[in-house]
Amino acid sequence: MENKLNSKRKVCIKTFGCQMNVRDSEALLGLFLAKGYKSVDNPKDADAILLNTCAVRAHAEHRVRSILGSYKKLSGVRRQLSDGDKKRTEGRNLKPGNCKIIGLVGCMAANSGKEIFERMPHVNLIVSPAKLHKIPAYIEKIKKENIRIIDLEDKEREEIFYSASYRIKPGYAQVVISTGCSNYCSYCVVPNVRGGLRLRKPKDIISEVKRNVSLGIKKITLLGQNVNDYRIESCGFASDSKSHRLKTVNFVDLLKMVEELDGVEEIDFLTPHPKNTTKELFKLMAESKKIKKYLHLPFQAGSDRILRLMHRGYTKKEYLALVDDYKTIVGGTIGTDIIVGFPTETEEDFLHTKDILEKLRFMGAYIFKYSPRPGTHAQKLKDDVPQRIKEKRHAVLLELQKKISNA
Ligand code: 5AD
Ligand code: SF4
Repeated sequence: MENKLNSKRKVCIKTFGCQMNVRDSEALLGLFLAKGYKSVDNPKDADAILLNTCAVRAHAEHRVRSILGSYKKLSGVRRQLSDGDKKRTEGRNLKPGNCKIIGLVGCMAANSGKEIFERMPHVNLIVSPAKLHKIPAYIEKIKKENIRIIDLEDKEREEIFYSASYRIKPGYAQVVISTGCSNYCSYCVVPNVRGGLRLRKPKDIISEVKRNVSLGIKKITLLGQNVNDYRIESCGFASDSKSHRLKTVNFVDLLKMVEELDGVEEIDFLTPHPKNTTKELFKLMAESKKIKKYLHLPFQAGSDRILRLMHRGYTKKEYLALVDDYKTIVGGTIGTDIIVGFPTETEEDFLHTKDILEKLRFMGAYIFKYSPRPGTHAQKLKDDVPQRIKEKRHAVLLELQKKISNA
């Protein structure tokens, strides 16, 4: 019945930001496909256009705001609401009926959703990362009742969100092990928009992996903001395997559980944090025939003073020693993330960052210019590195990394 009802509905999901968002969009699309929707690339062809957004840098937010603005005509809402209209029609579209659904969902919804709901009357659906599973139902409600919906609740995600089997890349599945983050790096908006760290249960993670294997998928990526923070007490997960009966399951235990599954052939994970990456993890990586010998280990900055201001919990020396352990024990490749132009960063501080890049010869590096984010600790510091200096430092590192990657 439901499938029939939705059989002509078309949804267009655009994704911005990190791998977590890529997976969230995939899971969301899976829910739509199971309800009989068709996925389309062109927003013009869609009944519902959803932007699954990122809030990590201001630049990404600006892009989304301008895309949302450009959808006004497409939406079918014919005129701008006056202030009086806004009050009278709180929660309602002026022109009921044929309006498209224009949805702002994910991290930017949590960050700027309220303001966009006020300012852009044609945006009729706004949903936080925790409530993505509700979107198909909200769309039905909007269509039936001609209302606008904003749901910014932050709570534990429901397992139903991961229930669809749809995968973008054949043979490959990303599996979320945790959402949110409680590390509070001073520049990072993630704890504010995705909430504190919440762990999926080992039994749910393992059954999602098993479901993928039963569909012929052999490559798995485990996803979390800081995978090393995974630690769950008494998982009570009965199985033949020893590691499934552990009292406490940490990330290395979880990785072993996935590793032990027949049919899984290749495993990697994103993202470990240097402050709690252990030799235990390296030993498992070294022993395993399935875990890829690649580590994405963001160092962010090379100066100890800046690392302290960033609340990163390690020094340059400790980071170098960790990579040394990795190279000795695992012998694999590494990648990283870097921020230039953090408040008060001097040329000398920057040279420490450059030094790490030169020394460690990363396979790949994502290099960003610092962007102050609302509600973060660093936002209280003056953003005092001039834009042209940020750009210069950014260009220097990009050039250096290009040479290293091409060597
Ligand atoms: N400004 C610039 N880059 C940032 N990142 C996170 N927050 C900010 C910010 N406020 C970068 C970090 C992180 C990556 C996902 O984005 O390098 O590892
Ligand atoms: Fe991903 Fe963070 Fe951007 Fe959200 S804010 S999409 S978690 S990088």
